[in-house]
Amino acid sequence: MDEISKVLVVDDEKVVRDGCQRVLCSRGFEVRCAEGGEAGLSLIRSENPDVILLDLKMPGMSGEEVLEHTRRDCPDIPVIVITGHGTIDTAVECMKKGAYDFITKPFQMDEFLLTVKRAAEKRNLEKKARLFEEENSRNLYDLRLEKSRLKTIINCMANGVMVTNRNLEVVLHNPALLRLLNIDHALPEPASVKDIVCDEAILKALSEIISNHGPEMGTIGQEITCRSTVARAISAPVTGPDSNIVGTVTVLEDITAFKELDRMKSDFINMVAHELRSPVVSIRQLNSVLLEGLAGNLNEKQKDFIARGIAKADALLDLINDLLNVARLESSVIPQRRVPTDIGPLIDEIIKLMEPRANDAGVTLVARHGPLKLISADPAQIDEVINNLITNAVNYSPDGGEVMVIAATMGEHVEIQVKDQGVGIPQEEIPRIFEKFYRVKNPRTRKVTGTGLGLSIVKGIIEAHNGAIKVDSAMGKGTTFTIMLPALQE
Ligand SMILES: Nc1ncnc2c1ncn2[C@@H]1O[C@H](COP(=O)(O)OP(=O)(O)OP(=O)(O)O)[C@@H](O)[C@H]1O
Ligand SMILES: [Mg+2]
Repeated sequence: MDEISKVLVVDDEKVVRDGCQRVLCSRGFEVRCAEGGEAGLSLIRSENPDVILLDLKMPGMSGEEVLEHTRRDCPDIPVIVITGHGTIDTAVECMKKGAYDFITKPFQMDEFLLTVKRAAEKRNLEKKARLFEEENSRNLYDLRLEKSRLKTIINCMANGVMVTNRNLEVVLHNPALLRLLNIDHALPEPASVKDIVCDEAILKALSEIISNHGPEMGTIGQEITCRSTVARAISAPVTGPDSNIVGTVTVLEDITAFKELDRMKSDFINMVAHELRSPVVSIRQLNSVLLEGLAGNLNEKQKDFIARGIAKADALLDLINDLLNVARLESSVIPQRRVPTDIGPLIDEIIKLMEPRANDAGVTLVARHGPLKLISADPAQIDEVINNLITNAVNYSPDGGEVMVIAATMGEHVEIQVKDQGVGIPQEEIPRIFEKFYRVKNPRTRKVTGTGLGLSIVKGIIEAHNGAIKVDSAMGKGTTFTIMLPALQE
């Protein structure tokens, strides 16, 4: 018995009361006694006993009456009837009125104890069951509250929310999702993701999440287009209690306006750069004509000034070209004139063209490569990539040294490395050098002019070719840029 059970003995015979008290107390029960019906009832109300031992024949209020009241007011308390006559009839009568059991006087000790214990246990179990039920309904209440809170949050969100099951059917969504997807009716049940989000990429991502058996998958972020809306979608698996994947959740943010603004910015840059380029080209050409003496002889000082003017015009043209490239990459209208390309000869050609400038800066250019697998690429863009990397390698090697361009086929990829022995890039700056206009502050390369666009263009082109780029660098020792591009299948 977990809890001490309280037994109430209602009997007019003192001997019985005392006997019961002695026996039960010694067995760990708590005992209260009443010598009549009225006193018994009032103790039942005030003490709430676990078991009642009730004598039937008492002066004043009879046991039967007490039984009736108890059944009505406290139906859960088991009542054991004590009968002096021991007749089956009386017992049956009491049992019909709801008594739990009966014992006959004089008591058989074993039988008496067994009956009281069973009644106490029954009462105990019932109490426990009630507690359990109460807790259960409290939990249910909490759960409902939590659910209602979540529902309110999701419904108030400006971002679209879509939760699916393993069959990629929508099981939960909010009004923002319908707004975002331009759906003006309630979703049918079940609604398949395929029917409401018309973007292949997101379907692929969700299927990938569902079929993932490996190590835990993080979130997948992607930009999707659905009718006239562009959205950023972040999808993640929903896991069940045994951490198996039971569905997916996707949060969609409408970025249509942002995209439009971005496009306008790119268009603007494009337009300005174009408008600037023609006059600068004219200025450069006119100065070249002057420098070549085609408009009359110049003295050394005049030549020097004009040459400097041309150098400035060249720098300006470089910047304009970079801006055009960035705008082009950003509006993702990169002319992808993809052809099977052999990188080897391309590298040789670039090295030949750049050698004089590198040598002027005291840098030796070395190319090393064997026969390479072809890649599918826009040669002009790959040219630009390698050009940018070699230019950087030369520019950021103030003490000269060697710049090596190594290319090799690595399984399904062609790898190109540009290695220098220059100033190096601090580890913490490496993630930032691919950002537009970002330049590392280093007193040793302060004199190198640049706009910080070169590497952002390089990265854009490599990614447009489904490739990857990485950087290894040691301060004062040198830097290696490695590019991987997928080789063409034979
Ligand atoms: N090989 C290198 N060694 C050391 N630092 C480098 C190297 N390549 C790039 N960096 C650092 O990264 C920065 C960004 O390079 P990025 O080519 O994007 O711009 P930039 O060379 O400054 O200007 P430009 O747009 O004219 O190329 C550089 O300013 C330089 O600090
Ligand atoms: Mg550069």
